[in-house]
Amino acid sequence: MKILVIGSGGREHALAWKLRQSPLVSELLVAPGNAGISRDARCIPVQVNRMDDIVELARQSDIDLVVVGPEAPLSLGLTDKLMAAGINVFGPTACAARLESSKAFAKDFCLRHSIPTASFGICLTKADVLNEAEARRNFCVIKADGLAAGKGVFVCRSFDDVESAIRSLFDPNQFGTAASKIIVEDLLDGEEVSILAIADGNHYVILDTSQDHKAAYDNDKGPNTGGMGAYSPAPVVTPSLMQTIENTIIQPAVQGMKSDGTPFSGVLYAGLMIVNNRPEVLEFNVRFGDPETQPLLMRLDSDLAELLSAAASGHLNHHYKLKWSSDSAVCVIMASGGYPGVYEKGFPITGLDEVEAVKDMKVFHAGTAFDETGNVVSSGGRVIGITAKGKSVRSACDLAYKTINKINFKNCFYRTDIAHRALARDY
Ligand code: AMP
Ligand code: GLY
Repeated sequence: MKILVIGSGGREHALAWKLRQSPLVSELLVAPGNAGISRDARCIPVQVNRMDDIVELARQSDIDLVVVGPEAPLSLGLTDKLMAAGINVFGPTACAARLESSKAFAKDFCLRHSIPTASFGICLTKADVLNEAEARRNFCVIKADGLAAGKGVFVCRSFDDVESAIRSLFDPNQFGTAASKIIVEDLLDGEEVSILAIADGNHYVILDTSQDHKAAYDNDKGPNTGGMGAYSPAPVVTPSLMQTIENTIIQPAVQGMKSDGTPFSGVLYAGLMIVNNRPEVLEFNVRFGDPETQPLLMRLDSDLAELLSAAASGHLNHHYKLKWSSDSAVCVIMASGGYPGVYEKGFPITGLDEVEAVKDMKVFHAGTAFDETGNVVSSGGRVIGITAKGKSVRSACDLAYKTINKINFKNCFYRTDIAHRALARDY
């Protein structure tokens, strides 16, 4: 099978690394990829928003399966275009991708199908937002409707917070049409977890649990990022809680998309808040999580190519069982100083060769490139994700942080407390 992966981040590096291990895969292409991915697959310099070029590339290279990593091309209809050209693709149609590309759509969907989520109002004006916030005594979360790379969510605990969220969201230079609708919802208090399911429109298989760390700095302080680290499994999810999540969220979501006439095929990612042992949906995403995918795939013992191709062709069934390592895995992101705000790039990364052969550890590249002399340099906000496996979360963490000490680039920073909730449970 010839596979083409679309994207250039740590998630796509992990997908390529795992797909390459499959005996079913004869050739692996990634567009556009990055410096690290080019060691695991053939990178083709086609950007993810060049949809016609991607279709052409898939056609010319006789690709059997396209795996789409990021949400933007999915929401713009890359799957629809590939399907129209007769190319097999793993990822939802633009219609089904509205679960992520419109938070108002996702909230209405939850309401229609009785899926638990914080109570909410949908607003068009500043006055609407102020009213909805006041009804919640300003303890609320205010969100832009559309895609905003994790920056369109404001957690508010005071009138000042609400005013500052309104200032940002109504600034046309910041969000544009992504904030043409605004959601105000109850502020929930609990522990977050990411539950990912692979669906084929009818059936689904749920992946093991993971937990992401969205805040930039230790102790969950600082601005929201795409994710500064993740680990798997997440002990907050007990087997009985997992059953509740399946019964009240995953099963009704897959069934609901089908009965609404927009069957969901691809990764259904439910970002949940566990409140008093009950799950509530914070958001749906329609693709693998980044960086959750890195520790998850490090623990997956099944063949990923077989799974994704079964889902893409509608051949998953309820008996599909995945094998997981009993080890834990932890991913720590090294980011460029200033991220998620303004940062400099182009700094050489040292120490990568030294750690390459370390057992139970893989450096997944997110924002890296080659400079003109062939050195690996930083080229994004999140630069690399050091991902380690161990018998316990503690030993996986120890290995990840020991490795990080050997890698360096100018102005880099990382969180030192990844997996702290699991460690506090002595997991
Ligand atoms: P979202 O993109 O909707 O998942 O929001 C990004 C982050 O904002 C989440 O990961 C949570 O940390 C926080 N958040 C979102 N909605 C809520 C909520 N209703 N209550 C508390 N925190 C929330
Ligand atoms: N790590 C959060 C996300 O992928 O959306």
